[in-house]
Amino acid sequence: MFKLQLSNKTAIVTGGAGGIGYDIVKWLAEAGAAVVIADLSDSGAEKAKVLCDAGQRVLYIKTDVTKEADIERMLTEAASNYGGIDILVNNAGIYPRASLLETSEALWDSVIDINLKSMFLCCKLVIPYMRQKAKGAIINLGSSHAIVGMPELFAYSVSKGGVATLTRNLAGAYARDRIRVNCVNPGWVASEREIMEQLAIGQTIEWMMEMGKSLPLGRLQTGDDTAALVLFLVSDLADQITGQVINVDGGIGVGSLSEEKR
Ligand SMILES: NC(=O)c1ccc[n+]([C@@H]2O[C@H](COP(=O)([O-])OP(=O)(O)OC[C@H]3O[C@@H](n4cnc5c(N)ncnc54)[C@H](O)[C@@H]3O)[C@@H](O)[C@H]2O)c1
Repeated sequence: MFKLQLSNKTAIVTGGAGGIGYDIVKWLAEAGAAVVIADLSDSGAEKAKVLCDAGQRVLYIKTDVTKEADIERMLTEAASNYGGIDILVNNAGIYPRASLLETSEALWDSVIDINLKSMFLCCKLVIPYMRQKAKGAIINLGSSHAIVGMPELFAYSVSKGGVATLTRNLAGAYARDRIRVNCVNPGWVASEREIMEQLAIGQTIEWMMEMGKSLPLGRLQTGDDTAALVLFLVSDLADQITGQVINVDGGIGVGSLSEEKR
């Protein structure tokens, strides 16, 4: 159990001001890490204060993860506050519904920039800090849409395919530096953003919950489901795990037997 302790570690969580990212921040801080919320949204300041008031070490640094200079400044500030960087969770992402024919050049660029270019930049800039510690753990948030994806999530699906490739590529490249790189695919999480996206296409929260009941394990996933796996993967318990893409999807990716056949 002690190996889940992150007391001497510093973690960066991009997009940590809301949704799944904030749940990851809470789990890592609870395990003892000093955590930086690197998010564009100023709500990160209030979220950090809540956790600091509860005795944890959490710092909000306003960051646009599509901008190299912003990331560089955030990492410098994080490292000087907490004495280096051990963990990076690339969580920031957007998932606007649009098919190929509905996808404008601007929409494509913003999805690829926020979901994929951000991970390239954050990984590139954090590796020197991890080399200083002769160890590190990087988690990239992917999606089960990475392999084929829904047609109405065209750019998103392509971006997450890139996330899986980036993960495996960097895992091989930096294994000798003891920097582990893994990808976690949340299933269907009713985060505020996901609820807004569903309402925008005419669905209801009740419909989402009903859909959850039809999944193999009987419910939608939560941010905590993802955060638990992230905590395990960045801890020393996962010291020999790298280059993996792991679904936390309640069995969405597997078939289930009908009632009669069970
Ligand atoms: N919700 C789901 O069902 C689901 C499923 C699979 C994968 N995911 C992935 O999980 C991650 C988090 O999703 P979520 O549902 O919590 O989303 P969310 O919208 O609730 O949270 C995303 C966070 O990223 C921040 N962000 C957006 N652009 C940014 C930028 N340029 N710079 C810095 N921060 C930025 C937002 O301010 C927000 O706090 C995403 O990568 C998403 O693709 C979500």
